Amino acid sequence: MGRAKGECCVTLVPATIDATETLLADQGYVASRALATVVFLSLKLGRPLFLEGEAGVGKTEIAKTLAHALGRRLIRLQCYEGLDAASAVAEWNFAAQMVAIRAAETSGNATSRADLFTEDFLIERPLLAAMRPQPGGAPVLLIDEIDRTDEPFEAFLLEALSEAQVTIPELGTIRAPEPPIVILTSNRTREVHDALKRRCLYHWVDYPAFGRELQILQARAPEAQEALSREIVAFVQRLRREDLFKRPGVAETIDWAKCLLALDVISLSPEVIADTLGAILKYQDDIQKIQGSEAKRLLETVRAELTSA
Ligand SMILES: Nc1ncnc2c1ncn2[C@@H]1O[C@H](COP(=O)(O)OP(=O)(O)O)[C@@H](O)[C@H]1O
Ligand SMILES: [Mg+2]
Repeated sequence: MGRAKGECCVTLVPATIDATETLLADQGYVASRALATVVFLSLKLGRPLFLEGEAGVGKTEIAKTLAHALGRRLIRLQCYEGLDAASAVAEWNFAAQMVAIRAAETSGNATSRADLFTEDFLIERPLLAAMRPQPGGAPVLLIDEIDRTDEPFEAFLLEALSEAQVTIPELGTIRAPEPPIVILTSNRTREVHDALKRRCLYHWVDYPAFGRELQILQARAPEAQEALSREIVAFVQRLRREDLFKRPGVAETIDWAKCLLALDVISLSPEVIADTLGAILKYQDDIQKIQGSEAKRLLETVRAELTSA
């Protein structure tokens, strides 16, 4: 493990790709080699990491895992339609300002503008919080689901990230003494602008292949027997090849395993699948498509694949 630039001895970032993989694996996060590589590079070069992929493939989780593994504070900016700079950086506490004005009036004093627009009356939002020094070292700033915001917000963000600073009109510019570790995620409901992507290291988080998804399931639902885990993963992998409105993510695989365990299921059957399909498919059209004889047929092909493997 090597030391990140400008840090004291408390927080260490991994020195190699292998060390990055181990760091994540120790927290139960099973990363592909390619993902471990971009995470390593992002830490080493201090570049924001842009993760794009379908819902439930482990994008948000990587930021949480990294913060935990490095002992950093996790600061999350959940994006939504209409999110503006003020709600992302800081807002003035008007109620407290009013109280201060009234209190001054009662004691016969006047309040000036300078008295009211100070840090005491500022409500810190994620982007400002991420610029502040933290005890364990620079925080991990998760900018989650950036595809939900609009282009003006992206442009604003680009500036904040490239300068590692935010500006509050009444107060001035606040610069991070050490830039945060930035992870952006997108579910790709729209394309994010090139300019923002260019600032970042990019990685497409794909559905894991059978072996890695099995490892993930073993890490997240260790109480499941190996034979059942294999059936679950093989069935979900098979489902992803079907023509569905929304394919199940890894999150659904784990949820489904937990449901089956709660029902004391030891092996899949068409009936069990039909009863628990709501854990993996979230659209009625998809459920209808897979229920009944289709579930039976898929299970048969899955069993055949598992025995021939
Ligand atoms: N590679 C992985 N290793 C361990 N757990 C994973 C992995 N990928 C996904 N998960 C699990 O799936 C869940 C959903 O992942 P999440 O990060 O919320 O997906 P996304 O942000 O891509 O929609 C997580 O809580 C985690 O338990
Ligand atoms: Mg997410």
